[in-house]
Amino acid sequence: MRITVLGSGYVGLVAGTCLSVLGNDVICLDLDELKIEKLRQAVLPIYEPGLDSNVAEMVKVGRLRFTSKYEEGVAHADIIFVAVGTPQAKNGAADLSFIRAAAAGVGRHLVKKSIIVIKSTVPVGTAHMVKEIVEGELASRQRTDVQFAVVSNPEFLREGNAIQDFMRPDRIVIGSDDAWAVEIMRRIYAPLSRNHDKLLVMSPRSAELTKYASNAMLATRISFMNELSRFAEAAGGNIEDVRRGIGEDSRIGRHFLYAGAGYGGSCFPKDVRALVSAGRSLGIDMSILAAVDTVNNQQKTILFEKIASFFASRGGLKGKTIAIWGLAFKPDTDDVREAPSLALIERLLSAGAQVRAYDPIAVHTAKTALGSTDLVTFCSSAYEALAGADALALVTEYREFRTPDFDRIAASLTEKAVFDGRNLYARADLEAAGLHYFDIGRGNGV
Ligand code: UDX
Repeated sequence: MRITVLGSGYVGLVAGTCLSVLGNDVICLDLDELKIEKLRQAVLPIYEPGLDSNVAEMVKVGRLRFTSKYEEGVAHADIIFVAVGTPQAKNGAADLSFIRAAAAGVGRHLVKKSIIVIKSTVPVGTAHMVKEIVEGELASRQRTDVQFAVVSNPEFLREGNAIQDFMRPDRIVIGSDDAWAVEIMRRIYAPLSRNHDKLLVMSPRSAELTKYASNAMLATRISFMNELSRFAEAAGGNIEDVRRGIGEDSRIGRHFLYAGAGYGGSCFPKDVRALVSAGRSLGIDMSILAAVDTVNNQQKTILFEKIASFFASRGGLKGKTIAIWGLAFKPDTDDVREAPSLALIERLLSAGAQVRAYDPIAVHTAKTALGSTDLVTFCSSAYEALAGADALALVTEYREFRTPDFDRIAASLTEKAVFDGRNLYARADLEAAGLHYFDIGRGNGV
């Protein structure tokens, strides 16, 4: 099939590339000419394992092309996927200006029967709004004869795992009131639904809400466990044992129950706030989700609080140096949006400390996020970050941090303290090396 994907950010590039791998003839359309020029040479604006080689391969075989011109992109396609950004506006709501611009751009150039598929995460009612914008553009061009359908098809990709998630989805949500459009969507996704039908067909509004509900549910589980980890710490209990104890109940399940330094990324924080804000405008008090956001903001300060309390009896944090392992909001991505590491670094610097940071992938994005400062030294290895440091904070659970040399860590750190924001280590190993060890809710505090 002939497909155009509008917006070459994270979702658009992954979807466009995977759709071309599935045999479709795909054009990725983005107004950023520099980005398009680089993509033509298979230089990607984001890091995602396996994406660069797939892009290069699909470009080589001619099933993936890039353009910055609406007329070319829209004329090419029978199906137009919209994957533009929906950033957070000042009031917490989703900012739909890119969606509106994309709908108008498509409407201005639509010449044949098409399906407009919304992949971006958008508030309930957006498919309806897109339909009205496109109808308006067609009417002003006196082309109301051009038939089109708007379908909501949210994505559930995880960064770092996006290709696998696209190719082996748990479910494919299709929100549409048009039977002919559903049939075409079924054909597009047929290669991913071979053994059993993964398509869940519903109204566009239900599909839009399903996306928010998924992320909000997962975020709720994490905040719930983070809150309980504080309880466990205060009352004397081990949150990891509690996690196993509840996770084995099949009604609860094992996933997304890990207490840690707080969730980050481009989805959970933004989507939880957008749903709270959308509820407010409908007169619904989304008190559970508002609390999920509040608990997460508190959780992002937990490592700092532990570090500050440790150093309180050691002359305070002024003039101290803290090594940080992991800057990205999770492993295998260069994304530092809403990352707990940034919240920690800001607090450490305000308390007069310096930072030596290492991340295998995300140093360049962290540098941009933090702006120029002499107080943060970016290092090129985990052990280099320890040189001259007083303590170590582990913020992102990269595989290379899992089994470090604890004797070497102890020899490097002046105050011999490790703050583990992901419960990666066993206390006995660190204490055997002469290290002070602080984790999240595994019974330290009592
Ligand atoms: C998420 C959803 O999983 C995905 O379906 C959606 O399309 C986009 O948002 P992503 O943001 O890439 O994906 O990351 P994810 O792996 O879900 O992790 C989100 C955050 O939660 C990370 O900061 C992670 O460290 C944290 N987390 C996750 C926990 O703190 N505990 C857990 O048990 C799981």
